[in-house]
Amino acid sequence: MSETVTITDNKTGKSLECPVLRGTYGAPVIETKKLYSELGMFTFDPGFVTTAACRSAITYLDGEEGILLHRGYPIEQLAEHSSYLELCYLLLHGELPTQTEFENFRAELNRRNLVHEHLERFYAGYRYDAHPMSILIGVTGALSSYYHEALDINDPEDRILTAHRVIAKMPILAAHCYKHSVGHPFVYSRSDLTYVENFLNMMFSVPCRDFTPNPVAVKALDLLMILHADHEQNASTSTVRLAGSAEANPFACVAAGIVTLWGRAHGGANEAVIRMLEEIDDVKNIPQFIDRAKDKDDPFRLMGFGHRVYKNFDPRAKIIRKACHELLDELEGIDLPMFEIAMELERIALEDNYFIERKLYPNVDFYSGIILKALNIPTSMYTVMFALSRSVGWISQWLEMMDDPDFRIGRPRQLYVGSETREYVPIDKR
Ligand code: CMC
Repeated sequence: MSETVTITDNKTGKSLECPVLRGTYGAPVIETKKLYSELGMFTFDPGFVTTAACRSAITYLDGEEGILLHRGYPIEQLAEHSSYLELCYLLLHGELPTQTEFENFRAELNRRNLVHEHLERFYAGYRYDAHPMSILIGVTGALSSYYHEALDINDPEDRILTAHRVIAKMPILAAHCYKHSVGHPFVYSRSDLTYVENFLNMMFSVPCRDFTPNPVAVKALDLLMILHADHEQNASTSTVRLAGSAEANPFACVAAGIVTLWGRAHGGANEAVIRMLEEIDDVKNIPQFIDRAKDKDDPFRLMGFGHRVYKNFDPRAKIIRKACHELLDELEGIDLPMFEIAMELERIALEDNYFIERKLYPNVDFYSGIILKALNIPTSMYTVMFALSRSVGWISQWLEMMDDPDFRIGRPRQLYVGSETREYVPIDKR
């Protein structure tokens, strides 16, 4: 017998049997599609706390248990054995690649790793001190102008080509944001380097000096990118899906995702963490900041703590915390006093009842900023790094949505609480 939940309108006595859908894992989902047509009602769920907006086979996370799976593979195993590029393939295609598939994938990305020379002129329109995220939003959106008329989003081949273009070009756009801010010449992509080496080369090489990426930095950045690659239906991914549901240009959809990611409640948190640690300045000041975070009359929150879904340790945070310690041990001559502040802040917060009761654990962004700082990536670039890593997640979710038999434009409803109908009063009579 099929599982249902009955919703009854006590006022009219009318009832609706709603099917209960079960996925591979996770809470069962009540299908309410007919709620309006049968009972004339909508559901009300601000912040989408209990609303499943789509079916997805890409990523699963269990916030109570602290589990994160990509295409069924635990994040811990991917972090230990895989690479960012292999994960890109997995997210896009659903399976890990064979050696040949992987080589073909790399070769395809290498064919796409140039941007039109004219695109470089867009950067010139931005002031030298423009926030790199504002530049990234603009230049990613501008990619849509190069791939619009000829791009048929209903053609599966065009769609996968779009995904490859996004993965191949985002490192270029991101590195150029940094080069613009320091006034250095843009560096072209190199196909002889790995994905991460190439990105670091575009960031840090200059015509007057050779640059050899430090293998320790390459490994740490690859890990960081794995941990940020996808995270199911978060705010930026949902933005990409919503924009995509209107059949908007996919590069513009990715730009919309970047807009959302910039918010400090989302990807902007990694930058906010470092700014907060700088403001704390000394371990002795931590209690005062903890008190502020607990004060309901103070809008201050401990950046890098808490998560909408994880009510247990964020599994990515566990991995990155360990990597953070290892990196600081391995990188010679690195002295990050803020790491000491971060560790003490973490210790105090984890023992404090306010944080324990609300299940506020350090999230991935609490540590990612420290790793990026150790890699000499400037603070204002942190959210760009997040966007670069997440772009594969966005485009994989877009691909999945475009292929979904339930595909239709997203159109949330509302609970209207404004004025009742009233007569217009001319301005001289008001
Ligand atoms: N510091 C102090 N109190 C907090 C914090 C924090 N970081 N986060 C939540 N709370 C309190 C909040 O005041 C509320 O208390 P009360 O029940 O007494 O009113 C309670 O915890 C629940 O908070 P909420 O705002 O209902 O939780 P949410 O699920 O809507 O928000 C969040 C999740 C991540 C936006 C929030 O925890 C936050 O603002 N954290 C700091 C920013 C941050 O680190 N963001 C990165 C998220 S991970 C990266 C990503 O996926 O984007």
